[in-house]
Amino acid sequence: EQKQRYYTIAFSQCVESDDWRKTMLQEMNRELAFHPNINFLYRQADGNSQKQVVQANELLKEDPDLFIISPNEGEPLTPVVKQAFLKGIPVIVVDRKVATPHYTAYIGSDNYEIGKTAGQYAVHLLKGKGKIIEITGLPKSSPAIERHNGFADAIKNYPSLQVIQQINGEWLPETAKIELSKIAARYPDVDLVFAQNDMMAQAAYEVFKNMVGIKPYIIGVDGLPSTGLKFVSDKTITATMLNPTGGEEIISTAVKILNKENFPRENLIQTTVIDSTNVRIMQLQVAKAASQQSQIERQENRLEEQKRIYNNQRTFVYILVSS
Ligand code: FRU
Repeated sequence: EQKQRYYTIAFSQCVESDDWRKTMLQEMNRELAFHPNINFLYRQADGNSQKQVVQANELLKEDPDLFIISPNEGEPLTPVVKQAFLKGIPVIVVDRKVATPHYTAYIGSDNYEIGKTAGQYAVHLLKGKGKIIEITGLPKSSPAIERHNGFADAIKNYPSLQVIQQINGEWLPETAKIELSKIAARYPDVDLVFAQNDMMAQAAYEVFKNMVGIKPYIIGVDGLPSTGLKFVSDKTITATMLNPTGGEEIISTAVKILNKENFPRENLIQTTVIDSTNVRIMQLQVAKAASQQSQIERQENRLEEQKRIYNNQRTFVYILVSS
């Protein structure tokens, strides 16, 4: 019998309070369940870059065989990633990027493409003419920059389509709501809100819902069943750009790296528009996948149970024979 090697993977997550991060962790754990030889260390930093630097250093002191990080903001987390990489620890960067090429693999959405798709959808909704408010995530995190750039490029050939105001929602619905409330009354003629995630999109809906006569289209990003898909199907927001968390791919790439197999360095996950025309089918697909997953888990449990019974019987037979 081949001896199995044991590995330690350390994961530094920027924040875990929202459903998107929770989904990512669930998907990672699901994949980790197939690899009992992996010891998984996990810390999350409550959306605080300084705290994440401290935690990342603590994790690295444990001498992991591989380090995964989803940085809160690129700049502050760059030195620790570079150090780990130069020490020879493979590093997987997830979702938000760092400002150095010193990493082993990147896994995340094509955020420029997400912004561009959202922009094209805005052009289509407004027929190339109208006023837009953009609610960004943390301005120093790469998805905020890339989603903004993609959106701006998609609308740049339509001079009558303009972003009249940009606000920083920090990726958080609370912040988005506060910041938008401060300025909303100034823009009774706003036609569309592009919010860089669904939680902030829903916050925009909350702000405008009580303002008589203002009912802009609202576009979000993420498309989780519990947020984006629900908001689109409830018609509180108009559309969402799918942004899968990549949880499974993160672990399967980690395993390939540890096993010295080939793996792609840049792993860009593709997006698609979800609006009222296809939200139902998306929801059905998600439900189907969830029921298949619970089926798999039930069968795994049955298998475990069978193994336990078999082992008991073996012990029993052994006792009988040897007595
Ligand atoms: C979750 C989140 C997502 C967003 C991503 C950007 O923490 O804000 O909603 O798509 O992070 O990094």
